[in-house]
Amino acid sequence: MKITRSLNFGLLALAGLAFACGGGEKAAETATPEAAAPAAAPAQEISLEDKYKDDPIYIKGLEKLKASDCTSCHMVERKIVGPSYADVAAKYENTEENVTMLAQKVIAGGVGVWGEVPMPAHPGLSEEDAKDMIRYVLLLKK
Ligand code: HEC
Repeated sequence: MKITRSLNFGLLALAGLAFACGGGEKAAETATPEAAAPAAAPAQEISLEDKYKDDPIYIKGLEKLKASDCTSCHMVERKIVGPSYADVAAKYENTEENVTMLAQKVIAGGVGVWGEVPMPAHPGLSEEDAKDMIRYVLLLKK
C-alpha cells in the first residue's frame, strides 16, 4: 500500500515535470497514476507461499506435510499451536545438520524451544519424509 502510494507520488511529480517542460495539460493527463498502477505490484508484499511455490523442494515437502497432521498446528506465516514455519526458518540455518536434527525432533516430539506447549511425537514418520518436510520449512526464509 505504502509503496503504491509513493510510486503514485512519483508519477505525479513526473507528470508535473512533463507539464513544466512544455508538455502541457495533455501530458499530465496521460500519466495518471491509475494507468500505471498495475505495473506496480510491489515485490516485498509477495507471500512466502508465492515466493517459493515453484521450487521442487517446496512442492515435495508441502505434499508430505499435507498428508500428515502438521498443518493443524503450524501455518507458514502465523503462529498457531506451534511456531510458524517462517519463524522456524528464521531461527535455523538451512544446513544438513539442522535438517537431520529437526527431522528427528519431529519424529520424537519436542518441547521447550518455543514455549511450554509440546509437539507430539510422529513415530509413524520415516526419517526421509521428515527431512523432506524440514527442507520445505527451512526454505521459507523471507
Ligand atoms: C499438536 C500440534 C503439532 C503438530 C501436529 C505438529 N507440531 Fe510441530 N510443533 C508444535 C509445537 C507446540 C512446537 C514447539 C515445540 C517446542 O517448543 O520445542 C513445534 C515445533 C516444531 C518445529 C521446530 C522444532 C524446534 O526444535 O525448533 C518444527 C520444525 C515442527 N514443529 C515441524 C512439524 C512438522 C513437520 C509436523 C508434521 C509432521 C508438525 N510439526 C506437527 C506443535 C505441533
